[in-house]
Amino acid sequence: KTCILIGAPVDSGKRRDGCLMGPDAFRTAGLTAALSDLGHRVEDLGNLSPAPFTPDTDDGPLVAPNETIGWTKQLMASAEQAMTQGMPIFLGGDHALSLGSVAGVANYAADQGRPQFVLWLDAHTDFHTPLTTDSGNLHGTPVGYFTGRNDFNGFPTVNNPVPQENVCMIGLRSVDTPERMALEASNIHRHDMRDIDENGIARPLSAFLNRVAQANGFLHVSLDVDFLDPSVAPAVGTTVPGGATVREGHLICEMLHDSGLMTSLDLVELNPFLDERGRTAHLMVDLCASALGRRVFDRPTRSYP
Ligand code: ARG
Ligand code: MN
Ligand code: MN
Ligand code: MN
Repeated sequence: KTCILIGAPVDSGKRRDGCLMGPDAFRTAGLTAALSDLGHRVEDLGNLSPAPFTPDTDDGPLVAPNETIGWTKQLMASAEQAMTQGMPIFLGGDHALSLGSVAGVANYAADQGRPQFVLWLDAHTDFHTPLTTDSGNLHGTPVGYFTGRNDFNGFPTVNNPVPQENVCMIGLRSVDTPERMALEASNIHRHDMRDIDENGIARPLSAFLNRVAQANGFLHVSLDVDFLDPSVAPAVGTTVPGGATVREGHLICEMLHDSGLMTSLDLVELNPFLDERGRTAHLMVDLCASALGRRVFDRPTRSYP
């Protein structure tokens, strides 16, 4: 595979700063070597900047909407372009980067006449709109945006919204009331931590992968650091106890690799300022390596017909 590393130091999606250091922390933790050791060609495009935007003021209900609009424009274009060259890996940056990365890869999928699917690995559903968010933090809105919810005024039009039934969320344990109500009225597939405790993490994932394969879809995976338990991944602003274990994370990633279905990936919400000796950055790099084929022993490849 050709892996295209795209640094996206987006820090406008929330108040607490630090995610802008994420791309460099992933590099420092050895991402390029980890992927090239697996036999992949790695092309690092460096860090992007947002498209020009009007400076934000402090008076509105939203945090830095104009800067996030600038990022969304830039990322949408870069994502669509990178899909023509290989598998883009977006190095965040906070989760607001996924407004652009997902909308962009979905445009490419539509060009190819194939459906886009999204696997959302997160404690949160990020299903707000700019009108329903209480915090004003736009990193809580990407799923609302790329599935085509209204009220994203000033943002680029989403020409190819991802159908709700093509979105699968795993790891949920912090959902705001307006998000819950909108989700319950939607066809988005959602698996909270109780579901994982009762049924394991492999079953919902393989059911989803089967659907992606059957539809000959493109699969974008968005991995938020807070999907993982804060005891193993402390470098994130929005820690929620009771998250996925290291093994659950690797199992998901190994299954993704076995499926051969993943076509793009976000690594988001890493705040290196909050890390402990780089352990969260290293874990994210190790998970990314699992998703791209690192394993202890070879197993027969599982097929998703
Ligand atoms: N639902 C909360 C909010 O809207 C938390 C969002 C957290 N999102 C994230 N990408 N970490 O403020
Ligand atoms: Mn900020
Ligand atoms: Mn998130
Ligand atoms: Mn989250």
